[in-house]
Amino acid sequence: MDQINYDELSFDDEDELKFPRDEVQDFDRVVERAISRRGFLGGVLAFGSGAAVMGTGLLNGTSAMAQQASRFAFDQLAPQTDGTVHVPAGYTWDVLVRWGDALFSDAPAFDPATGIPTEGSDRVFGENTDGMELFHKGGTELLVVNSEYVNGGINLPAEQEGQPASADDVIRLQNFQGVTVMEVTEGDDGWQVVVDSPYNRRIHHRTPMAIDGPAAGHDLLKTAADPTGTQSLGTFNNCGSGRTPWGTYLTCEENFNGYFGTTAELSLDEVHANGFERYGVSTEVDPGRYNYHGFDARFDLSQNPNEPHRAGYVVEIDPWNPNATPVKHTALGRFKHENAAYALAPDGRVVVYMGDDERGEYMYKWVSRDVYVPGGDTSTLLSEGQLHVAKFNNDGTGIWLALTTEDTGMSEAKIAIFTRMAGTAVSATTMDRPEWIAVNPTAIEGYCCLTNNSRRGATDDAGAIHINAAGEPMTVNAPNPREVNNYGQIVRWRPHGDDHAASTFDWDLYVMAGNPSVHTEGPYAGTANINAGNMFNSPDGMMFDTTGMMWIQTDGDDDNEGDFAGMGNNQMLVGDPVTGEIRRFLTGPKGSEVTGLTWSADKRSMFVGVQHPGGNFPDGEGSLPRSAIVVVKRDDGALVG
Ligand code: FEO
Ligand code: CA
Ligand code: CA
Repeated sequence: MDQINYDELSFDDEDELKFPRDEVQDFDRVVERAISRRGFLGGVLAFGSGAAVMGTGLLNGTSAMAQQASRFAFDQLAPQTDGTVHVPAGYTWDVLVRWGDALFSDAPAFDPATGIPTEGSDRVFGENTDGMELFHKGGTELLVVNSEYVNGGINLPAEQEGQPASADDVIRLQNFQGVTVMEVTEGDDGWQVVVDSPYNRRIHHRTPMAIDGPAAGHDLLKTAADPTGTQSLGTFNNCGSGRTPWGTYLTCEENFNGYFGTTAELSLDEVHANGFERYGVSTEVDPGRYNYHGFDARFDLSQNPNEPHRAGYVVEIDPWNPNATPVKHTALGRFKHENAAYALAPDGRVVVYMGDDERGEYMYKWVSRDVYVPGGDTSTLLSEGQLHVAKFNNDGTGIWLALTTEDTGMSEAKIAIFTRMAGTAVSATTMDRPEWIAVNPTAIEGYCCLTNNSRRGATDDAGAIHINAAGEPMTVNAPNPREVNNYGQIVRWRPHGDDHAASTFDWDLYVMAGNPSVHTEGPYAGTANINAGNMFNSPDGMMFDTTGMMWIQTDGDDDNEGDFAGMGNNQMLVGDPVTGEIRRFLTGPKGSEVTGLTWSADKRSMFVGVQHPGGNFPDGEGSLPRSAIVVVKRDDGALVG
């Protein structure tokens, strides 16, 4: 096989490369697809004609947009295609911190040509910023930020083409990823990281973690280094974030599969028993994206086949105690976790919504057994309870199916470890890559970005339909109604009884992204709230501000050509959940994804993540591109969320 440039390869395409999904073609499935498509047309026409059917009730009537005074505090920004950040008139932005900036005064200086050496690489802000949350107490503000992955090509000598050549190289890459806790403060020169703050901390791929929940201590989690199956080293591919009402940070392990590999052939029995195919863990004898396994036996499946079972979880971190051991909560399931969005049920039980970001995977919901009492014991709230998976019906209703031993035929431990298989066992709905979920603080409703799925309903010349990792055909269905869905959509649900713990809900599509300039009619034009001025593709990050406005970040095609003409670079938009109106607020530099958003304690500053920028952002000519967090403020000092 030719040398693969992993810096240019998305995680999805990597999965496809390693585990090419067979295509299926039989008559029943083709018929099923046709039936689904009729359902889809009904839904889209209804939504596109002014929310007349699916939106009734949810959108508060068809005249909501006309009657409601605008809640947007800015004029829409035009799409941009250059190498920097733009915000609307009346706002300014500045860089808070770049990958490689010092957290401690003994950190090595960042070399504009070669970056950071291994020695001290765990003393700097990590690479590829993603989910983040701000915590504050008594005037102290802590920003906790994920560093999702690493660009080998710009962290290792050029001649190595992104691949580690030594154990030392592996340690450097491991140190740049994980989570950063850092104190931040605003002074006369703007926001700064408080270097040497006692709260500053790097959590990386070798940081000790505890494991709790149903999988803790199970044979599948035991390794030579940890015969108890209750401790592990490191948290991996930390994508989106979450927080708990009791003030802890949740980091979500997404494409963890890519860190494991093998130096020797595995038997097919071994591959199947460990679920490596379903989870996309590569069993080819090759270096893969990171080649940790070439230098660290812990990541070598032929020596430690259980190690991947210790990743793929939601991990809880206490930002206020730098010595606290992070906890992997297996009760919330093992899959490619995007983020974790909490809500409180009326009776005080804790609900956590989660998406599994892979084509044709599912959406999940955790409901705690015990109730949250401020100041009370919170130790069981993410370990004792019930995990559910979403089933969306074509009639606009849905059900959260409990993943019980009875309904799945699996033990509680195996439901926690092989959660995807449990979802398949109860016939969950295959989705178009669930990314961030957000819960509206001003209404009892949740939203999930379904970023895109080029294989949804896609067929080859012979009419074969692509399948997901479970072998299920990804025919179109009501919440994922478009074939070859390159634009994405946002699904919204309202739990019955205004109770996030309820097992049933109503749903609709808040938006289907599209391009009405290129596709003047039909599903690729998008829903009625998409126009030539606010076009975007691939919604991904999503957060609500305290006023109930929804911030949408994109991670899509930014070539600004063909089907994507007029959309420009990846961006951040604001959606009004009541009227459906969407406006563009910020654009990222060419090549980047905009991901991660949180606010200062006084809500006068907004922190926005810029991941994997191209060109030379933010330092200009002759410098390496560096992922960074930027601060956005209003010129008049008013609130920004
Ligand atoms: Fe890390 Fe699905 O985004
Ligand atoms: Ca994402
Ligand atoms: Ca994405």
